[in-house]
Amino acid sequence: MKEQVENEMKVEFLSKSANEAFARITIAAFASQLDPTIEELADIKTAVSEAVTNCIIHGYENRIGIVKMEASLKENEILIEISDHGKGIENIEMAKEPLYTTKPNLERSGMGFTIMESFMDSVNVESVVGLGTKITMRKEIKKPEEEKESDSFQFITNE
Ligand SMILES: Nc1ncnc2c1ncn2[C@@H]1O[C@H](COP(=O)(O)OP(=O)(O)OP(=O)(O)O)[C@@H](O)[C@H]1O
Ligand SMILES: [Mg+2]
Repeated sequence: MKEQVENEMKVEFLSKSANEAFARITIAAFASQLDPTIEELADIKTAVSEAVTNCIIHGYENRIGIVKMEASLKENEILIEISDHGKGIENIEMAKEPLYTTKPNLERSGMGFTIMESFMDSVNVESVVGLGTKITMRKEIKKPEEEKESDSFQFITNE
């Protein structure tokens, strides 16, 4: 019962840079249902923005393709999947390394995956060269009641 999905959504959009803002706003509106703090919301928006930018810039490079964003809310957690049908990543481990970029000439700093990993609780990358890339990220959103409870009843221990 606890694993029940409470809500889910899916959007697809063209790999145009204007849609990075669309994706940020959309995920923020959806995630708001879990009552995140401003900081949690900013973290989610930033991580989504990095993943979507990667689909646009690396996945599809100079062509226009479809970027898909799916998200689901489960208890106090948001699960987000962002995928493209672009060129794929040859070496995922290397791509995830801080400062690794295949486009150093385009003001890229190679920090996208590092940012996603630091702002989300988990980040998983699946990619097949020539087929595309899917990023799956999770973040726990603390429920307001839990925060309140732990603040007011700190002296109660159950252990
Ligand atoms: N969706 C994708 N499709 C193909 N390659 C990707 C994709 N996402 C990431 N990569 C590869 O992984 C590398 C590292 O990605 P990362 O986001 O960490 O850095 P970056 O995009 O190069 O720079 P920054 O995000 O700091 O602007 C990229 O340079 C690219 O080679
Ligand atoms: Mg990037």
